[in-house]
Amino acid sequence: MSRTQFRAMLDTMVDPDAVILTTEAAGLVAEARQVALRWGLAWLEPGSAPPPPLHLRLADDGLSLWDTHPRAPGPLRVEFVVGAMGHRRRMGMGRRQPLARALGFKSGFQPKVVDATAGLGRDAFFLASIGARVTLLERHPVVAALLEDGLRRALLHPDTHPAAQRLTLRPGDAKTLLGQWPPAERPHAVYLDPMHPPRTKSALVKKEMRLLRTLVGDDGDSADLLAPALELATDRVVVKRPAGAAPFADRPPSFAIVEQTVRFDVYRP
Ligand SMILES: C[S@@+](CC[C@H](N)C(=O)[O-])C[C@H]1O[C@@H](n2cnc3c(N)ncnc32)[C@H](O)[C@@H]1O
Repeated sequence: MSRTQFRAMLDTMVDPDAVILTTEAAGLVAEARQVALRWGLAWLEPGSAPPPPLHLRLADDGLSLWDTHPRAPGPLRVEFVVGAMGHRRRMGMGRRQPLARALGFKSGFQPKVVDATAGLGRDAFFLASIGARVTLLERHPVVAALLEDGLRRALLHPDTHPAAQRLTLRPGDAKTLLGQWPPAERPHAVYLDPMHPPRTKSALVKKEMRLLRTLVGDDGDSADLLAPALELATDRVVVKRPAGAAPFADRPPSFAIVEQTVRFDVYRP
């Protein structure tokens, strides 16, 4: 992607509320400055002033978002190699998972998927780990920067490299990007998982989702994604909803896969 195309994509993003980036590692100052420049984030020269409570920090283990308010959750980073995602990968949770079934995974067939609300990339990474090629769309520059960093580290690790090389990050607003997709590259499926109240029992996920919500808000415009997603997908659109929630945009799905806390609504165009 050229520099001009990259800037044009950044211009379609929501205001990152001037989240600043800094580092405490003298050896990482040049790299951290580059990251700030690339994503249009404010830069804080190390040692010049204490960072504000909400800030991004580059360290040897990658980029993370810190919220140092008392009792605040965090830090938040995109992590595929260790932790919950590493566990999910090692457990070999595969094609019989509800998300995989909703997206139409069958043996011998790996769909091409656009994850239009990529967030921390967990669902996208899971899909790539069972063979899908996934394009991740993310409109918030801070989240996109975290994703890019997590993907870079996943590419470097032999356990996660195969899945990571099936993932492509495209920063920008899906409402625009879905409508501009090259016709020759239409995906089999578009996946939508906008922000909704966290209901999972995992304390870790709760904590991370709380911080993500602090950053991106409630995705109040998410229903606008259904029409362009249905236009683009050749086979289906899958929307993740809380189990008891009304259908997206009040439009009943073709069918749904219902789990204890979440539901995957499947729309066939
Ligand atoms: C709940 S999170 C997604 C979590 C993700 N499925 C995962 O597994 O980590 C929703 C994300 O979608 C992004 N988002 C919402 N609307 C969007 C849009 N129109 N275009 C691109 N990204 C969007 C938000 O910024 C947020 O990061």
